[in-house]
Amino acid sequence: MRILVTGATGTLGGAVIPALLKAGHEVRALSRTKRNGRGNVEWMWGDLVSGNGVREAVDGVDAIAHLATSGRKGRGAVDVPGTRTLLTLARAAGVSHVLFTSMVGADRAAHGHLRHKLAAERLVTESGLGWTILRATPFHQWLHARLGEFAALPVLPVDRSLPWQPVHTGEVATRAAALLSAGPAGREIEFGGPHVINTEELVRTWLRAAGLRRACLFVRYPGRLYAAQRAGDLTTDAVPKGEITWYDYLLPPPAMSDESDDFASEHTASPTSPANQPECDPDLHVYGGDEGYERPTRG
Ligand SMILES: NC(=O)c1ccc[n+]([C@@H]2O[C@H](COP(=O)([O-])OP(=O)(O)OC[C@H]3O[C@@H](n4cnc5c(N)ncnc54)[C@H](OP(=O)(O)O)[C@@H]3O)[C@@H](O)[C@H]2O)c1
Repeated sequence: MRILVTGATGTLGGAVIPALLKAGHEVRALSRTKRNGRGNVEWMWGDLVSGNGVREAVDGVDAIAHLATSGRKGRGAVDVPGTRTLLTLARAAGVSHVLFTSMVGADRAAHGHLRHKLAAERLVTESGLGWTILRATPFHQWLHARLGEFAALPVLPVDRSLPWQPVHTGEVATRAAALLSAGPAGREIEFGGPHVINTEELVRTWLRAAGLRRACLFVRYPGRLYAAQRAGDLTTDAVPKGEITWYDYLLPPPAMSDESDDFASEHTASPTSPANQPECDPDLHVYGGDEGYERPTRG
């Protein structure tokens, strides 16, 4: 199949492209930055908010992996109007399947950014196109970046009552590629990490991996979204689930052989190992990063 990937330069996009290529698909990748096509990835310029370039991007594709987002601070500009534009043009172009990535809890706790994800889900389910919604829990890589900012504080306010279920983007990407290969599921599918841990464990594991010491002040975060998270609305029991734990991601086992060295360099982003940070250039993901992603085995 020829598959358009929106959000191709993002954290998940960088893992979804190699997963789709590995599954034998042709990939067209959308970005607001102009890039030259390389190998079997065709890069196209387009902006989901203005709509420029989107008609050309959907022309001739069989399916769309719609990963683009304007994030928590973007007021849903890409998730809602951008998704509407994409779906309208995809329908006109005869696209048969749209897979939309949403967040676990969007249906149960539609507050803050999650309400934009739920609004976009509704656009997808009512689009008349074949659809699949993949709701994931927070990515290891996203939490790692947020904790890097958080640790700038000398004392960390930590709410121990909040459950988290971090998941690895490589595993989300593998699931997304399998769902695209299978065709429209016509349902919402949840995918979370292997363990639910609280904020204290999340932060302490990260500090240990970063080699940092910070005092933690135990607090209770206010707001409806945190209340929903506290009640377990942002975690999932759905199976299958990811296998790579937060601990393994940050503190991989010592290299025992060439194989386990690959595990450390390709599947972790230990704050203590700058060489292990996720690549910024998605071309690097495609041609050497998460390519051929497989669940690492521990020696
Ligand atoms: N991060 C998490 O922990 C998490 C957890 C669960 C679900 N999700 C979902 O997974 C998906 C991917 O998330 P991510 O963290 O990989 O996203 P990300 O790293 O923030 O990347 C956002 C992507 O959206 C694209 N984009 C932004 N504005 C655009 C516009 N106007 N037109 C076209 N493209 C635009 C960007 O491409 P350019 O800048 O190249 O144009 C970029 O590739 C999203 O649907 C997100 O809601 C994320």
